[in-house]
Amino acid sequence: MAEKITQYRPGMGKRPTGEFMTSSWRTNSYGVQVEDTRICVVMVGLPARGKSLIAQKVVRYLGWLSITAKTFNVGQYRRTATPNPSAEFFDQSNPEGERLRRAAAEAAVNDMIRWFEAGQGLIAILDATNSTKARRRWIQEKCEAANIETMFVESKCDDEELVMSNIRDVKTTSPDYVGQDPEEAAQDFRNRIRNYEKVYQTIDEDEADLTYCKLINVGHKVIINRIRDYLQSRVVYYLMNLHIRPRSIWLSRHGESEFNLSGQIGGDADLSPRGQLYARALPDLVRKSAGDLPLTVWTSTLKRTGQTARFLPFEKLSWKALDELDSGVCDSLTYAEIEQKYPADFKSRDDDKYNYRYLGGESYRDVVIRLEPIIMELERSENILIVTHQAVLRCIYAYFMGMNQEQSPWMEVPLHCLIKLTPRAYGTVEDRLHANIPAVSTWRGKGSKAKHQTKEEAEEEEAAKTKEKAEDTEKTEEVVHTNGGDGA
Ligand code: ATP
Ligand code: F6P
Repeated sequence: MAEKITQYRPGMGKRPTGEFMTSSWRTNSYGVQVEDTRICVVMVGLPARGKSLIAQKVVRYLGWLSITAKTFNVGQYRRTATPNPSAEFFDQSNPEGERLRRAAAEAAVNDMIRWFEAGQGLIAILDATNSTKARRRWIQEKCEAANIETMFVESKCDDEELVMSNIRDVKTTSPDYVGQDPEEAAQDFRNRIRNYEKVYQTIDEDEADLTYCKLINVGHKVIINRIRDYLQSRVVYYLMNLHIRPRSIWLSRHGESEFNLSGQIGGDADLSPRGQLYARALPDLVRKSAGDLPLTVWTSTLKRTGQTARFLPFEKLSWKALDELDSGVCDSLTYAEIEQKYPADFKSRDDDKYNYRYLGGESYRDVVIRLEPIIMELERSENILIVTHQAVLRCIYAYFMGMNQEQSPWMEVPLHCLIKLTPRAYGTVEDRLHANIPAVSTWRGKGSKAKHQTKEEAEEEEAAKTKEKAEDTEKTEEVVHTNGGDGA
């Protein structure tokens, strides 16, 4: 069964929220309101197999899709009682270690159940080794009793060299080894893994009743079992696309366009003369940032991105999904014209820019939904340069940087600037390279209808307004005071 249809609520399908909703209700492809089930994703695997990294990526991906998810990391619970354990602590013949580890697991599971019961989200990730069948059965029973589905995700990896490099990359700097010599820390961590290996049981036929996904050697082989509902299948599909080969993603807006100069939004204008200069300068800018790495260039189907990418000596692909946010009836207007023609809409957009959908057009939320296949493809790919538009670039950037929906639509992305994003073990590193070619600013601050405004100008305007307001208040207070004096 794919989903539970527990109640039909007419009209809700009209909510402008796209395919994913923050509550557990959504409209399925038949237009019926369905309730998504609550899922506990239970990580399984020996230490240094990428479980925390996978958990953190899944939370970020779901958050980007407006699905609230949270990781419960048993290691953090264990650390409150045992901050710097040595390898012996993890030996199953150490009763005190066993007791404390069990207590940490119980505390994490109980907090997770409370989190679900408080209605705070749809997906929790229980991040621990969960390396025995008995432990997994216990979690499954606890969740079942609380009406939470379980999905086990096992990361299995027998590539010794990769495991050693994981240890050196992330484990020697773990809070477990603060202040310790990295070589000794690595050796101790290796011994910790040996202790786990003594009891580790991979998921097998005995557990055929469980829902699970086994990722073997970073996705070289994937085994799935009893994947039942929509969210589970989204998560599995995402996991199947992940890889850990080093790579970067470059993002650039198109060069300045004729519409940018006139302050018009949308459209399909050509590049301005300065935009053309940027197109000519881009190959060098890319070489400065990427060296001789071979890249693939993705553009939208609009003229200004194709014109910007035209001198790049790489394979190019154009995607409809990368076209700029559709501004519907406002297409080709300036912000001042929109404010004049559709004042209520202009204000609504400023009040909730992420959810506001242009009449006959799109919202930022809609753009995120249509970008999902792009994100999947990006996860599968290596070095990609995307030449796209302001709103689309904000959404892609928000995915990699885990930026929230209130902030991302207001983010400043200057024209003629190349952004390099490099995914690392627990985050993304960003570099910005500016071409020395002037361009107008298309950034607009809340409440402003300016044609070209930089963030600094907007901040100055805001500061001036606040000062004016403060002076007004002082004046009013003076008046009140004088009046009071008069009456006495
Ligand atoms: P622990 O049980 O100690 O918490 P862990 O399994 O959570 O360990 P992480 O801390 O996530 O391990 O390890 C991160 C490292 O694992 C990164 O260097 C990352 O590149 C690598 N990695 C990510 N995915 C995988 C995978 N599927 N298999 C092996 N290594 C991976
Ligand atoms: O002005 C350039 C542009 O790409 C427009 O085509 C688009 O409507 C706009 O930026 C998106 O930015 P915002 O969401 O801030 O209006």
